[in-house]
Amino acid sequence: MFNKKTIRDIDLQGKRILVRVDFNVPIENGVVQDDTRIRAALPTIQYLLDSGAAIVLCSHLGRPKDKPDPKYSLRPVADHLGRLIKAPVKFVEECIGPKAEAAAKALKPGEILLLENTRFYPGETKNDPEMSKALARLADFYVNDAFGSAHRAHASTEGVAHYLPAVAGFLMEKEIRYLGQMLADPRHPFIAILGGAKVSDKIDVIRNLLAKADTVLIGGGMANTFFKAQGKDMADSLVEADAVDTAKSLQTEGKGKLHLPTDFVIADGFAAAAKHKTIAVGDVPAGWRVMDIGPETVKAFSDLVAVAGTVVWNGPMGVFEMEPFAKGTFALAKAVAESKADSIVGGGDSVSALQQSGLADKITHISTGGGASLEMLEGKLLPGLAALQDK
Ligand code: 3PG
Repeated sequence: MFNKKTIRDIDLQGKRILVRVDFNVPIENGVVQDDTRIRAALPTIQYLLDSGAAIVLCSHLGRPKDKPDPKYSLRPVADHLGRLIKAPVKFVEECIGPKAEAAAKALKPGEILLLENTRFYPGETKNDPEMSKALARLADFYVNDAFGSAHRAHASTEGVAHYLPAVAGFLMEKEIRYLGQMLADPRHPFIAILGGAKVSDKIDVIRNLLAKADTVLIGGGMANTFFKAQGKDMADSLVEADAVDTAKSLQTEGKGKLHLPTDFVIADGFAAAAKHKTIAVGDVPAGWRVMDIGPETVKAFSDLVAVAGTVVWNGPMGVFEMEPFAKGTFALAKAVAESKADSIVGGGDSVSALQQSGLADKITHISTGGGASLEMLEGKLLPGLAALQDK
């Protein structure tokens, strides 16, 4: 299934390795707020250190405008990584160029250097060969462990792989194995739960999963667009007018497989303090809006999840950052955690709901990728993976 070379397949002793990681983590006032992605890269970093390699790490952070911006500096990540790995992590305020080259050359086996944000350079997102070549000059091998960025064909995720022998790290391997295996050969019943605000973000995911899964459960704001397509008045609810026709055809394609909520929690404003009540699916009264799935839906969805062989979940069931409208999402998190199914959860909000409920360790695999895991669910080839050497 996983047919790419990995760091196990190369001789690392005394070599300099450029490792693309996904250290795109939330930072506030110079402090890393969630280090899940940094921790997820530790097995690869530790293995490279133990194998006598020198490590040059690179990553993007946020979406700076092709030039240096202190707000998006990776320096705080170097300090944080140093504490996690209990070893000094050097930092250089360039990603390519003479300073970066000098810092990389000076590295001894067992030392780690983190380069500044790859997106401080226009060549990164343009996948400019000059940027790829400049990155390649920093090392003997290229390792891609940035699963979360593998759907981007950028210089540091794809281009550079054409100028150095390029292999996968352990996180990349693990993510692809879980997601790939689950999609290729799922245990049945295979249930997909999709939520979040927009149908338009998930059209291809829904299509691909309708072909592979036994049941696709739709919750969250995007369910409103499906109800609108059925001619219901959704009042002040979030509805994507542009996606109503698509929702209509997805419903026809998914007949028998695609399940929508049967009740929802509505509120008379978009605020935690708004008046709220549960109603059966139908017209939403004027001045009200849908904020969460209702208890009957929670029960129906949870019952299906309880007997599933495979569950994949992406996207919240309601406005879960407001306590009165978080019940659907947290109940689903519990159902997925308690199910004996192989479970895979991706996307920032569903992962954060699991972490907040303390249930994350009950999940078979929590993906570090948002967009990347969605593209896998769409059945797409990830360019960052495709560029690596075949086994
Ligand atoms: C992510 O957070 O999904 C990845 O790091 C990719 O970030 P991007 O959407 O800015 O390319």
